Amino acid sequence: MFTQKLSAVLLLAGSALAYNGRVQEVLRRQPKVGNVTHSFDVARCPGYALHALSETHNGLTAKLNLAGAACNAFGTDVANLTIEVTYETTSRLHVHIYDTAKSQFTIPESVVSRPAAAKGNTAKKSDLVFNYDASPFAFWITRRSAPHAAPLFDTRISSLPPTPIAPVMAGDNSTALDGFPLVFENQYLQLASALPLGANIYGLGEVVASSGIRRDVGTNGGVGTIQNDWARDIADPIDENIYGVHPIYMEHRFNGSTNTSQSHGVFLLNPAGADILLLTPPSSNVSLIEYRLIGGTLDFYFLAGPTPQSVMRQYAQVVGTPTWQPVWAFGFQLCRWGYTSLAEVKGVVAKMRSANIPLEVMWNDIDLYHAFRDFTADPVSFAPEEMRQWIAELKANHQHYVPIVDAAIPKELNSTDFYAPYSKGTELDVFIKNPDGTEYVGQVWPGYTVFPDWFAPNTLGWWTDALRNWSALGVEFSGIWLDMNEASSFCDGSCGSGIDISNTSTPFILPGEPGNFVAGYPEGYNATISGPSGNITVNGTLTYGATAQAALAARGIGAGNQSDVDLNAPPYAIHNANGRLSLHTLATNATHTGGYAELDVHSLWGLMEAEATHKALQAVLPNTRPFIISRSAFASAGKWAGHWLGDNFSKWEYMYFSIQGVLQHQLFQIPFVGADTCGFNDNSDEELCGRWMQLAAFTPFYRNHNIKGAISQEPYVWDSVAAASRTAIAVRYALLPYWYSLFANASIDGTPPVRALFWEFPNEPELFSVDRQFMIGSDILVTPVLTPNVSSVDGIFPGRGKTIWRDWYTGAALNTTAGANTTLPAPLGHIPVHVRGGAALLLHSAPAYTIEETREGPFALLVSPAADGSAFGTSYLDDGVSNPPGPSATVTVHASKGRMKIESKGKFRVAQKLEVVTVLGVAKKPAKVEVGGKKVKGFTFTDAEEKLVISGLSVDLNKGTTISWK
Ligand code: GLC
Repeated sequence: MFTQKLSAVLLLAGSALAYNGRVQEVLRRQPKVGNVTHSFDVARCPGYALHALSETHNGLTAKLNLAGAACNAFGTDVANLTIEVTYETTSRLHVHIYDTAKSQFTIPESVVSRPAAAKGNTAKKSDLVFNYDASPFAFWITRRSAPHAAPLFDTRISSLPPTPIAPVMAGDNSTALDGFPLVFENQYLQLASALPLGANIYGLGEVVASSGIRRDVGTNGGVGTIQNDWARDIADPIDENIYGVHPIYMEHRFNGSTNTSQSHGVFLLNPAGADILLLTPPSSNVSLIEYRLIGGTLDFYFLAGPTPQSVMRQYAQVVGTPTWQPVWAFGFQLCRWGYTSLAEVKGVVAKMRSANIPLEVMWNDIDLYHAFRDFTADPVSFAPEEMRQWIAELKANHQHYVPIVDAAIPKELNSTDFYAPYSKGTELDVFIKNPDGTEYVGQVWPGYTVFPDWFAPNTLGWWTDALRNWSALGVEFSGIWLDMNEASSFCDGSCGSGIDISNTSTPFILPGEPGNFVAGYPEGYNATISGPSGNITVNGTLTYGATAQAALAARGIGAGNQSDVDLNAPPYAIHNANGRLSLHTLATNATHTGGYAELDVHSLWGLMEAEATHKALQAVLPNTRPFIISRSAFASAGKWAGHWLGDNFSKWEYMYFSIQGVLQHQLFQIPFVGADTCGFNDNSDEELCGRWMQLAAFTPFYRNHNIKGAISQEPYVWDSVAAASRTAIAVRYALLPYWYSLFANASIDGTPPVRALFWEFPNEPELFSVDRQFMIGSDILVTPVLTPNVSSVDGIFPGRGKTIWRDWYTGAALNTTAGANTTLPAPLGHIPVHVRGGAALLLHSAPAYTIEETREGPFALLVSPAADGSAFGTSYLDDGVSNPPGPSATVTVHASKGRMKIESKGKFRVAQKLEVVTVLGVAKKPAKVEVGGKKVKGFTFTDAEEKLVISGLSVDLNKGTTISWK
């Protein structure tokens, strides 16, 4: 969490910073305070000319030479470029434009491995076709099937009439639309592509987008979106850069005359600080996407789709499929900043139990630490033996414990202060350095700190030991929470270098302390009325950097090697909302092993920490799936960790934003994601918290987390919230086999578990912006209440009247309005959930207190036939924890009018029996029901809901069976 601009101001003034997200709301309305952007009309840049083309077995390479006098707009033009075009698969085209000398930074394979290309020549079979003009060089990508349709990507936009548009920041006239030449300089790369006017663009993040999931491309002279890529610790401001960086977008094109659609994806593999603009020139018949990067190369992957979900699977082939989650990760998790002792934490766990609200995972924030130091526990309030005993009890109750790990490692204060992670880390040379080879020293919660250098050879081993040694203090964790890993630092630059750090005073005031009280409430909150908005019922051996000389000699890659690169103030000022790139994080001249400059690798820190932690947990907790939630991420982070949406607010608006956050991260291939339920900053209230506990029960990562100093918001605090939570958690746990199967599919091939409605119904334009509802898989539609003081909610039901939607709770078919909203009753405590016609869902019939106990209970089957009587579903089952996953079983259900077949494949033995089968949409009471060819009597039928319930069964799912009714 942080409020960077203010921190800078206050620190310079020598006073303390109120660490509180509220200030941010004010700040984001202030003008940008970026570096001074040089005023330069990039239109004058000469572009490039292609020559020396040679065909390769699956593509081509060529040289690109600067086509005129260098313009040196924001750096130095690179005269000689190479372009490599590779048809990697029939649906993936790789276009890489790089400096022939290869001195620009590219991500090492060890950090993000590149996908293998298919063997043989895929060029002729590719869905995508690369086309180019040699001079001025421009390229465009078309579909083989539609060579004359508007290209998917098209850099031939120099023919647009000169149309200056408003500068995106003061002093910036580089947006004058007098052509968009390709610019490739050491510190500035620019490439723009035409998009269809008003294109449907999704992705580019991480962001809380005011436009919703469909990004704003602007209209008639407007810049709709400036997506800034620079990882940043900040409390979820709207339309600014935040914790993660994901330069992938998906475009969805709908053809109204044929009523068909196609999606494609564009991924730029470059972690450099960047602005990605979506805009529409005045009176133009196209919109544009423009990339402005301050380093690296133009490394594009084009993904053919043609459906939204196939784009996502193709992206997973590039960055990797998401890590397998342990099954317990789907349980309800509880946290807050401000549980100051084990006694308090135990009390919370006990209150959850006595309120009968399932609690799967208990978390601790930095309150756990001694002196805010990682890998410690306060010896008095979290005493080792008591911690050990308590965590053992949790485990005996099938519950889990997850503590926080902050990015920064405190320095020892003086010669008598001993802190092994620091001394050992220094000995092993695992920390980031200043350019002169001395230790880089920033400042975070514990005072002066150093930062792990994930490029250093000893870091993984040191990190693994630190995590392992934590158990000496009784901290026997089941998973790890990675925070502050953008990486966050509260002071400017290496502020602790060469000074006496023993007399450190913290540069912040914690929330809840004088000067930083948590005073905010949800919109509409009124403590003096007894309406539902008020809280009415609150019942080592130095191998590197030994000397300044050695450090400099070791510099060798990217900006770290380029003598003419301004490491501290790159000439083009990206729209980092903090302004200067070094503010509130590591300075851009901080130096990593191998000579990498922070300027090039900044946004990779969280990804690299997540990978190291994943590997460490594999060593510390062998054979089990690492459970990790990371705040910062870069493309491919899903291979190692899940994510939470950071420091949101206890506001209705932020509950709504949580849906787009979850959907974005499905595309980003970090599907295990969720928001701080009930809101982090500010105080929550009964109504918001009740609605949010229900909504979040339908998102993958389900954790209630709260800021220090705010009123309590555990689900037992308010009776109505407790009840609402119990109801929603029971639905979630019933659906566990479904959730688990969706995540298995995600880990196998990148299919997104949570879906925007149009990902399932891509030919219904009325769905293209819908982000107040979402789907779980293809079969569950959630319509949450997102506003206070209402008892109904509007939702659209896809399928335009042809798809049947049945109420989860009653089984009754919904009378929907085709292509428009339907109003649903939604009193407090009720979240509308609908099951799609055509679905067959394997469920747990007895949701219990924990995931383990739920899994020990029997199964149920819910069949919701389509209009033709058919239904289908598959469930993936395994032991839920083994890593790598062990034997599995796939249970398949096929239903047609009056009958169904249940089959199983695979070596995993499913011990629990199928006891209840519910068939919806049965028009009249059957005279005869047979299971496995034998007549059964134990069934009931309800006319109103057309519901047949066959109970008392004991079907062995390993063998399967047939069921008929007539
Ligand atoms: C950061 C985290 C937040 C945590 C706090 C204290 O703001 O995002 O979740 O509670 O730090 O550790």
